[in-house]
Amino acid sequence: MSAEKMETSASVSNGEKPVYEEKEDTLSPEDLSEMLAAGTKEVHEKAENTQFVKDFLRGRIRKELFKLGAVALYYTYTAMEEEIERNKDHPHFAPLYFPVELHRHEALARDLEYFYGADWQSQVSCSQATQRYVDRIHQVGQEDPVLLVSHAYTRYMGDLSGGQVLKKVAQRAMKLPPTGEGLEFYQFDAIHSAKAFKQLYRSRMNELELDTAIKKRLVDEAVKAFQFNMEVFEELEEIGKTIQEEVLDAGMPVHGAMGGDIS
Ligand code: HEM
Repeated sequence: MSAEKMETSASVSNGEKPVYEEKEDTLSPEDLSEMLAAGTKEVHEKAENTQFVKDFLRGRIRKELFKLGAVALYYTYTAMEEEIERNKDHPHFAPLYFPVELHRHEALARDLEYFYGADWQSQVSCSQATQRYVDRIHQVGQEDPVLLVSHAYTRYMGDLSGGQVLKKVAQRAMKLPPTGEGLEFYQFDAIHSAKAFKQLYRSRMNELELDTAIKKRLVDEAVKAFQFNMEVFEELEEIGKTIQEEVLDAGMPVHGAMGGDIS
């Protein structure tokens, strides 16, 4: 993914809608946004190539497995947003605090209610791989809050990059209603331009007062965050092998478009 040469500034005040303005600026390799993008390039490619993710993109989605994926995301975002709330005034995180725009915990709770019904909470539990991810997020939030930046970056920037495509694929493959029930996680209602928001987020990351050693630790933590995600995907893949369920094939053009091969 190439570096964007634009940064964005926003005025977010008095509960009004944020206004994003683009300004020309040249990024340097020492900018945190650039270090994170470069430092996670390899692990990003690995994540893209996990079987679970590849199947998802092809529209090969088993509903039971998709639901378990939403459960994993629910525990992950609950932990992350709890730690973000704890650290929202911390100088190393405060500029990245965008609860209205980004937070996914409530959207995921609504998705789970849609899939599992009103008593969803008694039906879901945190898987082993998700628990390891969640434990790390809590540890970071409580012992080394600057590293929360890496966890927020890995999830929110990723969600803003691929969310709409994934939503459409899931909607078609599982024949979910066009009104968006079950897929609220993918819908960022308070963000009008994902591209502009990502530029704002990058410029906020670059304004954090961090020395090079800390920036390098942030890159290492982001790589770890990707690995935690991959472990969750791999666990889902294993669980998938034990679920006796027809692959849902909506037979929609997206399969062809994504190079899918579903029989
Ligand atoms: C960015 C594709 C999976 C995290 C991007 C971008 C693309 C992309 C095209 C660049 C968007 C832009 O610059 O505007 C994909 C595809 C995936 C996938 C096709 C799966 C097949 C993941 C996963 C994660 C992730 C599993 C992490 C959990 C990120 C992050 C960025 C990103 C953090 C922002 C990079 C940056 O600009 O610094 N992705 N992605 N992606 N993705 Fe993914």
